[in-house]
Amino acid sequence: MIRINPHYTKLQSSYLFSTIGKKVQDFQSANPDKTIIRLGIGDVTRALSPSVIQAFHKGVEELSQDTTFRGYGPEQGYDFLREAIAKIDYQDKGCQINPDEIFVSDGAKCDTGNFQELFAQDVSIGVPDPVYPVYVDTNVMAGRTGAFMNGRYEGLVYLESTKNNNFVPSPPSAALDLVYLCFPNNPTGAVATREQLTEWVEYARRNRSLILFDAAYVEFITDPAIPRSIFEIPGSKEVAVEFRSFSKTAGFTGTRAAYTVIPKECMAWDDSGKDYSIHSLWNRRQTTKFNGVSYPVQRAAAQVYTPQGQREIQELAAYYLGNAKLIRETMIDLGFPCTGGINSPYIWVETGTNSWEFFDTLLEKTAVVTTPGAGFGTCGEGYIRISAFNHREKVIQALERISQSMQT
Ligand code: MLT
Repeated sequence: MIRINPHYTKLQSSYLFSTIGKKVQDFQSANPDKTIIRLGIGDVTRALSPSVIQAFHKGVEELSQDTTFRGYGPEQGYDFLREAIAKIDYQDKGCQINPDEIFVSDGAKCDTGNFQELFAQDVSIGVPDPVYPVYVDTNVMAGRTGAFMNGRYEGLVYLESTKNNNFVPSPPSAALDLVYLCFPNNPTGAVATREQLTEWVEYARRNRSLILFDAAYVEFITDPAIPRSIFEIPGSKEVAVEFRSFSKTAGFTGTRAAYTVIPKECMAWDDSGKDYSIHSLWNRRQTTKFNGVSYPVQRAAAQVYTPQGQREIQELAAYYLGNAKLIRETMIDLGFPCTGGINSPYIWVETGTNSWEFFDTLLEKTAVVTTPGAGFGTCGEGYIRISAFNHREKVIQALERISQSMQT
């Protein structure tokens, strides 16, 4: 008899965005005449930029000739892409990251989800609340938690991110082994200052912890005082791994490309105190379980690092940030306190009411899809998240519908 991994029985019945997808589908079936506007899942709507598409095509063309054809690529990514990432995203910005510390992958979701595999079953884990559900669910699947009780899994330490701390938790007094941080934050849109990140790095150094730093939304940082990378913080290279993605930055949600930076200094220990390089462990994992990202996709991603590619992605980020500004201002005008939407494409809106009910009512009255804050954790109750990823006209239309619904 084939028996299931018992830890899967602890999971909520479906992944947050699948649950929402199903609700939206049911709504559409019941209301076929309504035009739904999606400001729920953070999925980009604008086409890949002209020069990225050109590079993508060229990569495909190369596969059509025996002389330029490529089969399996390096599991860690092609050098042309790793070198471009290291130079433009790190070295030019003062962070000493080398190309061989970069692992190209097909998504930050997969990497943040898979990374826990490297660590012992009984490590203590800190996750933000509200949280990107992948960090939690993958640890549940791995058997690192107890049951789900009152909106939380036993055995995890929840780092509360509320308006009292401007949605940026401080390190706890207890020593945690593994800490997930995400800035600009999904879902709250909050950003962490240099001082706040320094506190976390010092905490990790004191406790020999590891910070898994999810920087998927870095391209939306407009304030030059806000660090773009955990590696801007002195001492971080021994205690942090950083995840980045081309999804939101360059419109690759469907194309799939991301990368993870693991400094060679980063260590984990066995029970006898012997140290192991996390870089080597991840390399071992990836070479076993992953065959790399397709060549044309890596060519398209590398184009992002040319001067023209950089201009194009900045324009893309500015476009979505323009949407974010409209959403934020409208919701504030309607009397809802908001955070995010300035250095982030997400606006975290305090509704003060049950967030699933608010989500349902908004969908029913306006056909606008948002994300209920409670879906991200208990501290998300009383909030909804609105995503700025959509066409400007749709965002304007959604805001008009929301404004009207509030007046009736
Ligand atoms: C979100 O809406 O939170 C993101 O699109 C999820 C993701 O990037 O996987």
